[in-house]
Parts: sequence; structure tokens; C-alpha cells
Amino acid sequence: MDNVDDVIDAYSRLIRSAIDAQLGDTDNTFNNTVGIQLTKNKLLVWLNEPSTLILNIDLKNKLEQIISSVLYPAFVVKHKPGLTLIPRLEQPPESARALAFDLHFGIYERLRISSLKDTNVFSNGAKLAIALMDDYYWIPSLSPHVAIQSTTRGGKTTFLRYLAINCHSYSMLSVKNGALDDESNPLVIIDPKLDPDLRTTTLELDGIYIYPDFTKSENSFIDSVCLQLKSVIDLMQRRALRKKKQPNAKFKDVFVFIDEGISIPAMGNTNTKTIHFRLLDRLLLMGASFQIHIVMASQSFLAGTNGALSSQARLEFGVKVLLASRINTENAQFLFKELDKDAINNLILDEDNYGTLGVGIITNGDGNIVPFKAPFVGELR
Ligand SMILES: Nc1ncnc2c1ncn2[C@@H]1O[C@H](COP(=O)(O)OP(=O)(O)OP(=O)(O)O)[C@@H](O)[C@H]1O
Ligand SMILES: [Mg+2]
Repeated sequence: MDNVDDVIDAYSRLIRSAIDAQLGDTDNTFNNTVGIQLTKNKLLVWLNEPSTLILNIDLKNKLEQIISSVLYPAFVVKHKPGLTLIPRLEQPPESARALAFDLHFGIYERLRISSLKDTNVFSNGAKLAIALMDDYYWIPSLSPHVAIQSTTRGGKTTFLRYLAINCHSYSMLSVKNGALDDESNPLVIIDPKLDPDLRTTTLELDGIYIYPDFTKSENSFIDSVCLQLKSVIDLMQRRALRKKKQPNAKFKDVFVFIDEGISIPAMGNTNTKTIHFRLLDRLLLMGASFQIHIVMASQSFLAGTNGALSSQARLEFGVKVLLASRINTENAQFLFKELDKDAINNLILDEDNYGTLGVGIITNGDGNIVPFKAPFVGELR
């Protein structure tokens, strides 16, 4: 099928029969009590006559389950927690509302990069956007902070390297577009694991690289992390002063990357841990107005005393990524608390030539959760 309209027609018929078969039970008067309208980026479902069905969350879940698999691979059904109704004002009362499902036409294809020059920063109107998949973007000026969770070997550090390359280029482009260049280094990378690839990428981008000195005590690393975060807060304060005179000023974007987030507070004592959390809180709560971003990867985003950050701070991540070939309520509980079992089962993770490498789920802050495939990062050295 080459024509979008043909695809839409064919899939409309498929949904029609799947819904009739799945929701109809034994009641053969059911057919056509449900109306549907499929377009390139939306599916509307409404009731045509007073019926035993109501447009509630149960029906939404049932329909989402049906359409997620029936529409694959022609469309991706974006998951939005809760109920989204659209008014149909010109219709009689029984049909005056429709359930709305946002769709993406085609599956999201994985990006591939093989060199530091392979950047994916685009202009989206007046805003700059970093592509995370083909036709799927992160807009740092709208969703300033990023959280990435996976178990060990899940692809966190590799994804951080991809982001570091693109954040660097984002920052340069924002200056070109008029952001004030106060000579700050756009990249700060905090790497408790001293990952050789992350180190190489950081140094090639001339970023600030903070790493543990294994000949010194564990406390000395958390001290150096806190010192670095403090200097970013000082920058934020200098920018705040400047904003008093130039209220509309936009500054060069600064991205603070933290790998293995949960391991850092674990290295400190109660005192250093408190300081670390407080610094993170300030950056996550206030940084956005001064073009300061946090990009944090961690095996866990548990909040509180034994966790990676405070529960308040965790709420500040607009972009959230869970890299896992199987999503369950256990691994989704920190970043995607809103996902229940039904919703998780409706998110279809697909594989490509790279298998389950770096697959999972993502939200870029637009309110939707979709399946994710991290960019494939080839030999960068
Ligand atoms: N997007 C990717 N592109 C290419 N290779 C990848 C990608 N993601 C993961 N890999 C491969 O998987 C390995 C583990 O990935 P990575 O080091 O990024 O995971 P991690 O979550 O940081 O693991 P760790 O817990 O060991 O720090 C990498 O060395 C690389 O070979
Ligand atoms: Mg790692």
C-alpha cells in the first residue's frame, strides 16, 4: 500500500472488525453501535446509540489493547494515562463525546550514529529539538531535564554519550540563534564508574569530566561532585543577577550529566548526602529558567534517604526513559508510576535489526508514553 489514504482505509476496516469481534460478545446487535474515525494521527471512538457501554477507563483500556496490536506496524498508539474525551457537539447526546487515541503514523525507527559529527539537532519553529528516534524529539527548552533508568548493561551510558554529543551541538546552535554566551562550558559529565567510552566522548567534546580517584576515600568523590554542582549553582546565580537587567535574556545551555545517579549519595555520609540532595534539588527545581539542565542515568530512581534524589526533585524530569526489554510494574514504579498493568501490556515494544538493544519506553514531556529504541552508537573512536 503506497498511499496514506489506502492504509487508513484498510486499517479502519481492520479496527472495525476487531472491535466488533472483541466487544460484541454474543450480542449480534452490537455491530455499529460503536463509531470510529481513523486519521493519520488520531483515532476517535464514540457510541452511536444509548448502549450498555460507557466511555470510561475500562473501555479505554480494552480498546487500547485491541488497537495497539491491530494497528501495528502501520501506527504506534501513544499511551496517555487517564481518559481523553473529545466533544462532538453537532451530534445527538448519545454520540456527543468520543474517546481519543493519539497515533504516530508508522513505527518510530531507531537512529544510528557513527561519529561525533553525526548530530541530530533540528529547528522546530523557533525552538531547537534533539531527535531521539526518527520523528521523535526532545525539546530542552520545554522539558529541561532527563532521567534514564535501566539495569546494568541496559544501555544508559551509551545513550548518555549520544545525548552529550547532541546537547553540545544544541548549545552551540542556541548561541548562534542569539543565546547569551557567558563562556560557560556546555557539558559537565559526572561519571562515578569512569567509563572509558564516556570519558573519551567527554574529552573530545571538551566537556568538564568529574570522576572518582580510586586512591582516595569514597567521600572525596562525593565532595568533588558537590563542588562541581555548587559551581553550576553559582553560575545560575550570576545568570539570575543578569536577568534582573535583561529579563528576557536566554543563556547558553549548560547540561549536567550524572551517570549511575544512585551510586553517588551511597558514597557519602549523612551530611554529604544531604548536601548532595540539596544541590540537586536546586538545580532541578530552578535550573530551567537559566538554561541549566540535568541529564541523569541510574539503575534506580528510588527517592529519599536510600535513593538517588529527593522525591520532589524526581518530579522535575520531563523526559523519562526506561530501557528494558520487558516493562513491568516493578521497573516502571519510579519513573512511570502512572502505568498500571493494563497500560504496560498495551505498550508494544518492537525489535529491529539490533534486537532488544536499548529498547524500552519513553515520554518526552508531551503527556504521551511510547515505545523507545535508543540510537545505535557505532564505533566512535
Ligand atoms: N545504543 C547502543 N548502541 C550501541 N551499543 C549499545 C547501545 N546500548 C548498549 N550497547 C552495548 O551494550 C553495552 C552496555 O551498554 P552501556 O554500557 O551503555 O550500559 P549501561 O547501562 O551503562 O551499563 P553499566 O551498568 O555497565 O554501566 C555497551 O558496551 C554496548 O556494547
Ligand atoms: Mg554505564
